[in-house]
Amino acid sequence: MKYGFFDDQNKEYVITTPKTPLPWINYLGCKDFFTLLSNTCGGYTFYKDAKLLRMTRYRYNDTTPDTNGKYFYIKDGDTIWNPGWQPTKTALDSYECRHGIGYSKFTGSKNDIEAALVTFVPVDDAVELTKVTLTNKGTSKKDIQLFSYVEWCLWNADDDMKNFQRNLSIGEVEVVDSTIYHKTEYRERRNHYAVYSVNAKIDGFETSRDEFRGAYNGPDKPAAVIAGKLNNTICSGWYPIASHQINISLEAGESTTFVFALGYIENAEDDKWEAPSVINKKKATALLSKYQTAEAFDSALAELCSYWDGLLGKFHIASKDEHVNRMVNIWNQYQCMVTFNMSRSASYYESGIGRGMGFRDSCQDLLGFVHLIPDRARERIIDIASTQFQDGSAYHQYQPLTKKGNSDIGSGFNDDPLWLIAGTSAYIRETGDTSILEETVPYDNDMSVATSLMEHLKRSFDYIVNHKGPHDLPLIGRADWNDCLNLNCFSEHPGESFQCFGPSEGPVAESVFIAGMFVKYGREYADLCKLTGDNAEADRVLAEVDKMIAAIEKDGWDGEWFVRAYDAYSKKVGSKECEEGQIYIEPQGMCVMAGVGVDDGNAKKALDSVKEKLDTKYGVMILQPAYTRYHLELGEISSYPPGYKENAGIFCHNNPWISIAETCIGRGDRAFEVYKKTCPSYIENISEIHRTEPYVYSQMVAGADAKFHGEAKNSWLTGTAAWTFTNISQYILGIYPTLEGLSVNPCTPAEFGDFNVTRVYRGVTYNIAIKNPNKVQKGVASLLVDGQEIQGNIIPFDGSKKTVNVVATMS
Ligand code: BGC
Repeated sequence: MKYGFFDDQNKEYVITTPKTPLPWINYLGCKDFFTLLSNTCGGYTFYKDAKLLRMTRYRYNDTTPDTNGKYFYIKDGDTIWNPGWQPTKTALDSYECRHGIGYSKFTGSKNDIEAALVTFVPVDDAVELTKVTLTNKGTSKKDIQLFSYVEWCLWNADDDMKNFQRNLSIGEVEVVDSTIYHKTEYRERRNHYAVYSVNAKIDGFETSRDEFRGAYNGPDKPAAVIAGKLNNTICSGWYPIASHQINISLEAGESTTFVFALGYIENAEDDKWEAPSVINKKKATALLSKYQTAEAFDSALAELCSYWDGLLGKFHIASKDEHVNRMVNIWNQYQCMVTFNMSRSASYYESGIGRGMGFRDSCQDLLGFVHLIPDRARERIIDIASTQFQDGSAYHQYQPLTKKGNSDIGSGFNDDPLWLIAGTSAYIRETGDTSILEETVPYDNDMSVATSLMEHLKRSFDYIVNHKGPHDLPLIGRADWNDCLNLNCFSEHPGESFQCFGPSEGPVAESVFIAGMFVKYGREYADLCKLTGDNAEADRVLAEVDKMIAAIEKDGWDGEWFVRAYDAYSKKVGSKECEEGQIYIEPQGMCVMAGVGVDDGNAKKALDSVKEKLDTKYGVMILQPAYTRYHLELGEISSYPPGYKENAGIFCHNNPWISIAETCIGRGDRAFEVYKKTCPSYIENISEIHRTEPYVYSQMVAGADAKFHGEAKNSWLTGTAAWTFTNISQYILGIYPTLEGLSVNPCTPAEFGDFNVTRVYRGVTYNIAIKNPNKVQKGVASLLVDGQEIQGNIIPFDGSKKTVNVVATMS
């Protein structure tokens, strides 16, 4: 069952009922100012940091789902309704929500009034704009009222939910004409405030939530709206809000338009006031004056759309498969930008007050983002590396505003260092910019011990060399990629963190997954060494890689698949010897991607075992058999009911690893089968089962052991976006950036047919036609570059050209 449809022409998903199984959201904002916006106008806004600079309040775990948003109420006689249905939930005569690329549109109608909202954040300004168009579709005059509504969050969203003894006394606002200024804490330690304004004369305003709603009403029954009159209250403490009232008369067929602006302003410390206790509004006035007309709104929206057209045009496919075209050209790349911006911090499942930026998460997000805006990827790499410790280990997370490591969680996740190599290598393969390796980068933000970024990569690599266990495999520490496989922690009491409890140094648990990563990213590091002329280091690295391969072959192979790990007692995890959890997906994907077992047939055996033991119609599960009891020695993984999350769920993030691994052994049919199973567009018509948005990936789909097999959770912020884009663009479609130039080496299903890719790479546009006359799954027999046949798969980079035309014939 579907709740809408894709409109590919406009790059939109059109939702045709407000009653989607879960809120289906969109993200507005490209750089610093962000809004999460659901299909019923729920959501919230923040500047840079969802925890520290939260502008509007959202309510988690409330009795009604998706509570609080930026609402518009229309009062038409005794009928009060919202164009996005929430919060009054008055039945609408028509409803439509179009989530587009960086904007959303809502159209609702009731009793001959149509309300059309368009909302977005301009490319370069810290403001959310909403154009509200009201049209009288009837045959007689209508007198109606429009009320806006936002509830301010008192900036620190964590404190806002906990510290009522203070917070209920600090709220402050100012109102001038049609602009409401939220200035809580501005008097002392803050130099920023928020504004909510409309480009029209208003008939009233409200800044006190209790006055607006009435003490015991919810936002569905706001007393002031029911009364048809806002009371012009200047709030003092309690719950500050912003609401405008506009009384409107519309003749039959007549329309009227308003532009609302919700903005963030920062003033210099010595320029905060225009008079005692009166905030300096110069910047706010300047910002608002830019968006006073519908024309200004439209042209800023057009600018946003062309900005996105430029970005999405960097990789474009035309094939006969509409799902692939749609996901690759639009939604997958869009989600990659969102995960790059948010890491795992702010979604409808990540509260924005918990995790900041993840070290491994952000490094992996780069893989799907780097081709879009390489300069921002560069900056991010430096930020991430700046939180690394001198011994090569890393803070697991850092806060986006301060860019400082988060000491609550600390370090000890032993895969983290290698992801820095992955991200940096991807950046250099994309851009050719080796100057990044010479950048001076601090450790733990301490400039006095800074070294080159290249030295950071060396320390990342050596962290693994220096932390091996009894089988010469890497020590796992608190966890590797699988945050829930906590082999050293032994947490027995509720409330303890599964990861942070117990020691991370000392115990001997080892990870075959990290071993696979070490081989893959060790080789990529060696390539960087060679590129920069350090052959001795490259030789040393490759010798270490060979030792690791030997260790995997000796103790990391279980006969039919790769072992997952060794626990603190040096017992195997993910082996046929285990009672539960005999096979895990991660080492099968990572070891084969690293090339381990490709020549001796073990890769094929491992992937056949994955198919036999882990596959389901909704995707490949993370492990089998599921853990049915809590294993103290394994940690959080066994705390989930069977089939959910890391305990035998379908963790979408590592499905592309299997798909990529299949391309490494040339099985295009199977690689694509795995791709399709979790691909949102392919499963749109089971939205009632899948439940999350059909245009983006979710972190997890419940596995075969779960009651709700096929149901997805935690949409949007997942490494799945980056890895899937990497998989489809670089491995299945086979356009892979190398240090020397673009490589063309597709691995598609036999029946996939010919296809064309446009790829902008280091400023040159490659028009690549792939022909597959003999319906093979892999292998390029001839590669014509601007009419000249070249040997091998790599098109040597030539920056003197603007366009390169390529014809690759598979056979
Ligand atoms: C985390 C990742 C982790 C994965 C598997 C995700 O929620 O963001 O860092 O690798 O779970 O545990």
